[in-house]
Amino acid sequence: MNKIISCKNLKKSFFIKNKTLNVLNDISFDIEKGETTSIVGESGSGKSTIANIIAGLLKPTSGNVFFENSSIFNNTSVDKASFDKASFNRTKIFRKNIQMIFQDPYLSLNPKMRILEIILEPLKIHEKFSKEKLLKLADEILEKVNLSVFIKNRFPHQLSGGQKQRVAIARAIILNPKFIILDEPLSSLDVSIGAGIINLLTDLQKNLDLTYLFISHDLKVIKYISDYVSVIYMGKFLEKAPTKKLFSNPLHPYTQALIDSSFTFRNNQTKILLNNETPSLLDPPKGCLFSTRCPFAKKICFDARPDLKEIEKDHFVACHLVKTALTSLGSSKTTSSSL
Ligand SMILES: Nc1ncnc2c1ncn2[C@@H]1O[C@H](COP(=O)(O)OP(=O)(O)OP(=O)(O)O)[C@@H](O)[C@H]1O
Ligand SMILES: [Mg+2]
Repeated sequence: MNKIISCKNLKKSFFIKNKTLNVLNDISFDIEKGETTSIVGESGSGKSTIANIIAGLLKPTSGNVFFENSSIFNNTSVDKASFDKASFNRTKIFRKNIQMIFQDPYLSLNPKMRILEIILEPLKIHEKFSKEKLLKLADEILEKVNLSVFIKNRFPHQLSGGQKQRVAIARAIILNPKFIILDEPLSSLDVSIGAGIINLLTDLQKNLDLTYLFISHDLKVIKYISDYVSVIYMGKFLEKAPTKKLFSNPLHPYTQALIDSSFTFRNNQTKILLNNETPSLLDPPKGCLFSTRCPFAKKICFDARPDLKEIEKDHFVACHLVKTALTSLGSSKTTSSSL
């Protein structure tokens, strides 16, 4: 396997009124070249914080991100005011190769700029081209995202939501990046428009050899688009697995509940409904972060925080009960019914 991004032990804390908000708790994962890796979780679980850290827009409190084995944050931190020429060039390489597409295309596109200027803007920073070459490139890129070249002189407010998201995609791919972070790219769009954007993204991935980090709370889309899925809850991964394994054999009760809320059937299992509200990050449960909402929680779940452990090849779960089931059954095959 050939990993393009590696996140190692990312922690992010914000400090509010003498209290610490631990938004990310030891997040580690790799993203394989050419694949789509997804992160799914409820609102406030830390998905955008991970995205912003990988994009270099936010510094982690500790931990690091590696792009093709080079550290994004050592000496090249975007927060550091004075960095030398060499590290600046490396930052430029990261900025060219790592692009981000946001949830709301209207907010991410400058309303005062015409579409032509918007899609060419990254090129002006990174490359020096003649006017003719720029116009030719703009036409080519609009064609790649299935937009008419006639929209070039329009402003963002004159486009539909789907067209705006296509402009955001055009701007992201114009520098030929290797890796694109998609943070809830469909959630402001109608389902049918979103389906068109998904098809465009999968075509571009094939044609341009792109790797995606796809962030969403929509499991149906995640199941369709992803090769690998991580489930996040209160800033911690509770389960990570290749997509097929996660959906055919979800082991964490939280993953099971998420799947039950999106799909009708889950291997003839009784549906798991989530109890209670997500606790505040200012006062997280001492044991398993999910313990206050888990219908199976036992004493150990309230006492100790379970680590993410590899239960079967490439399938990681942070749940005391899955481990207990494995030990008691003495089997390497763990099923959700053993909970
Ligand atoms: N700058 C900040 N200062 C304080 N708290 C923050 C800051 N940025 C994010 N948070 C908090 O961190 C937590 C995670 O936020 P994040 O935006 O990463 O969640 P998310 O999973 O992307 O949610 P959503 O699905 O709503 O986009 C939230 O509780 C949020 O309030
Ligand atoms: Mg978000």
